[in-house]
Amino acid sequence: MAIQRPKGTQDLLPGAVEQWQYLEETIRSVCREYGYEEIRTPIFEATELFQRGVGQTTDIVQKEMYTFLDKGDRSMTLRPEGTASVCRAYVENKLHGQPQPVKLYYMGPMFRYERPQSGRFRQFHQFGVEVLGADQPLVDAEVISLVWNLYQRLGLTKLEVHVNSVGCPVCRAKHREQLQEFLALRRNELCDDCRDRFETNPLRILDCKNQSCQTITKGAPTTLDTLCENCKTHFEKVQDLLEEAGVVYRVDSRLVRGIDYYTKTAFEVMVEEIGAQSAICGGGRYDGLVEEIGGPPTPGIGFAMGIERVLTALQVQHKLPEGKPRLYAMLIALGEKAQSKGFSLLSALRVQGMPVSMDLQGRNLKAQLKAANRQGAHYALILGEEELERNVVLIRDLTLGEQTEVPLAEAVETLNEKYRRGV
Ligand code: HAM
Repeated sequence: MAIQRPKGTQDLLPGAVEQWQYLEETIRSVCREYGYEEIRTPIFEATELFQRGVGQTTDIVQKEMYTFLDKGDRSMTLRPEGTASVCRAYVENKLHGQPQPVKLYYMGPMFRYERPQSGRFRQFHQFGVEVLGADQPLVDAEVISLVWNLYQRLGLTKLEVHVNSVGCPVCRAKHREQLQEFLALRRNELCDDCRDRFETNPLRILDCKNQSCQTITKGAPTTLDTLCENCKTHFEKVQDLLEEAGVVYRVDSRLVRGIDYYTKTAFEVMVEEIGAQSAICGGGRYDGLVEEIGGPPTPGIGFAMGIERVLTALQVQHKLPEGKPRLYAMLIALGEKAQSKGFSLLSALRVQGMPVSMDLQGRNLKAQLKAANRQGAHYALILGEEELERNVVLIRDLTLGEQTEVPLAEAVETLNEKYRRGV
């Protein structure tokens, strides 16, 4: 039996790849405009980084990591997300010694052993941003407005931006206590997972998809109810700045992120049209993470978006540029001699930056013309034995059906001039 790709992964074929490139290029230009620089970290890291960074009680660490022992018996994990790696790199490369904040972005594959379904993969791709070394509300607002402006640039509509504050360790402890008190009497009615979460991470109960847990948590105290003065002022300032920046958002006191490192601001962007996995972006502040993984106390904030989900939203909303880039000219060489002469003409055209191609199988004129049309070529450059003898090449405009003859020595210049004029 033929071998198949692993469940939850995708092959990206020509046609789809161009859409990825379009999105990646748009992302890169928005990052440049905001002054973010790219960082590339390893695809696998010491397992402990994610245990400490993402958090022992999270679904990611408990159920979803691709963990293996390498040949030296070290436990390694394919990265399930990018934030912990970026913080590790910040500490390891002493980026805290540079002018702060450090504004970084990354794009690449992440791995989570989840149940694959529409919009949920085991290998998926994220574009993410992390700002390290600044705790001002202005940074939170800049990061969220970057997301917003990227989506505006892409033409995405029907976005729902949800913003919340989960507080700092001080107000979180108070919330935890109040929440446990609220849930104590009905603790036994919670689902199995939430009964465990009651002790380990009660905040996550607010995010449970189970119907009975949702009923039980109706009216439960939210993190907004217990914010300390400092966190409250911070959150209010973030909201003022978001309004200033023209971001349309709503405060969602039930927004709980699935990762443990968050403090203060947390946010998500949803597009309902793309189905159950509607979160196209998630992020927030994580002021304790760098210290948690062994670095100096450093505030941080960032987000990551699922490239596959953003592309689905763009598809559903018909906002993707059409099709593959067109070939400018197809060289049709007939006979062996013409082929080698044509081959050097092709190289000369490529040096000038023109996308050109030729038949590599020695097919006849009709078959080659058909291939040129199929690939959307603007011109066919025909070089047969007779043309070769007279040192000319035929330039046939495939759209107009017109044909001119030019000396071989002038072919590059003639075509280059047409190409620059866009004809
Ligand atoms: P996250 O919410 O786990 O956050 O993931 C961010 C985004 O990645 C999601 O909103 C979704 O679009 C996409 N995503 C997650 N899992 C999958 C999957 N299995 N298949 C397809 N797409 C998926 C983080 O990863 C944090 N590191 C974000 C962050 C950065 N927070 C602060 N800085």
